[in-house]
Amino acid sequence: MPSRSERPQVAVLISGAGSLLRTLIEASQDGRLAVELVGVGADRVASGLIWAERAGLPNFVLPLTDATDRAEWDRVLTRRVAQWEPDLVVSAGFMRLFGPAFLARFAGRCLNTHPSLLPSFPGRGAVRQALAAGVKLTGCTVFQVDAGVDTGPIVAQAGVPVRPGDDEATLHERIKIEERQLLVDVIREWPFGRRGDYD
Ligand code: GRF
Repeated sequence: MPSRSERPQVAVLISGAGSLLRTLIEASQDGRLAVELVGVGADRVASGLIWAERAGLPNFVLPLTDATDRAEWDRVLTRRVAQWEPDLVVSAGFMRLFGPAFLARFAGRCLNTHPSLLPSFPGRGAVRQALAAGVKLTGCTVFQVDAGVDTGPIVAQAGVPVRPGDDEATLHERIKIEERQLLVDVIREWPFGRRGDYD
């Protein structure tokens, strides 16, 4: 059996196109991130799983409908991710709330990213909410996952100006450029092995 890499082990969870995942894969390959991606989980047959496949990363799909109830889904998700023994779990566009089993197992070792300057515009439709509110500056936030909806401790943020004529798609695309960079920067600075720095 190959020995476990010296590099910190990172698992990624996705639901969508996976551009954040793609960036993490590329960054771990081109030297921007000295981590080893150990696996990718999804709650649906997400198109972004293609990046995991191409990189030869183990991956699974665990739809909510495969479980008898949410608690069981949470327990199975926890088990599937835990099998990779990650030092960090990155929820990269994973559109599900974690349950008690997952939070107990990965508390303090799970990052999420959100396309707004939290605590403004949590939950779904963050970019739409920002446009509706008429803010001139929005952005993205990387934060630690807790039991709430986008309520965990904020680790880093980046601002993105709203341009005249922006719609949800154009604004989200510009936010995602910053979000990908921010996530790489946060993981690079993450205190692996020095737990407590962000507590
Ligand atoms: C990101 O903006 C993330 O914050 C949001 O969904 C987007 C994911 O994009 N929840 P992708 O699937 O990584 O391209």
